[in-house]
Amino acid sequence: MGPGELLLDIGSGYGRVLAYLRERDFKHVFGLESDFRYLEKNPLSVVCGRGEQAPFKDESFGAIFSIGVLSYFLEDSKRTQLLNEIHRILKSQGLLFLSCFLISGDEYHQNKYREGQKEYGTYGIFESDSGGIFRHSDEDELRALLNNFHILSWKIRPFTTMNKRKASGVIIEAQKH
Ligand SMILES: C[S@@+](CC[C@H](N)C(=O)[O-])C[C@H]1O[C@@H](n2cnc3c(N)ncnc32)[C@H](O)[C@@H]1O
Repeated sequence: MGPGELLLDIGSGYGRVLAYLRERDFKHVFGLESDFRYLEKNPLSVVCGRGEQAPFKDESFGAIFSIGVLSYFLEDSKRTQLLNEIHRILKSQGLLFLSCFLISGDEYHQNKYREGQKEYGTYGIFESDSGGIFRHSDEDELRALLNNFHILSWKIRPFTTMNKRKASGVIIEAQKH
């Protein structure tokens, strides 16, 4: 992937991934962020919008990043919509870098998922200690979501949640086919 390639970070937040890519000399790096409060930091290169309805033309980007964002997508239909949109706006052979939390086997999370299942009907959705509602992913569900991509790498890693809890996560590199 050359430095002239158009890159998109979906759920760019305060711009951590954008800064990382710019430091590595990628010149055309854009963000798509649903929370307008983050836009002040990168006003010229971040578009306010939702990943599941991405306001970009088909086959616009050479690579798309989605780091820590899938946990915000609770419903199956929204998750499918997000991956369909990523596929649509990626160029042929374009790359997707996606990382997200996985369903964790520790007691704290298992209890949270059980409560969440009663409330929201899906195991993996839970209310965090700070009151946010998130969804940790099942690996089989993730593979199904990515069925329009070639998986290039799938790395399971220990992650720390925003509430400083340990949970496992996955870092996926995939290519549009
Ligand atoms: C945990 S933060 C990760 C930020 C950044 N990717 C990073 O790794 O530093 C998740 C971000 O996704 C954004 N987000 C949540 N739902 C979104 C959606 N439907 N479309 C675009 N962004 C979304 C949130 O507002 C938040 O800024």
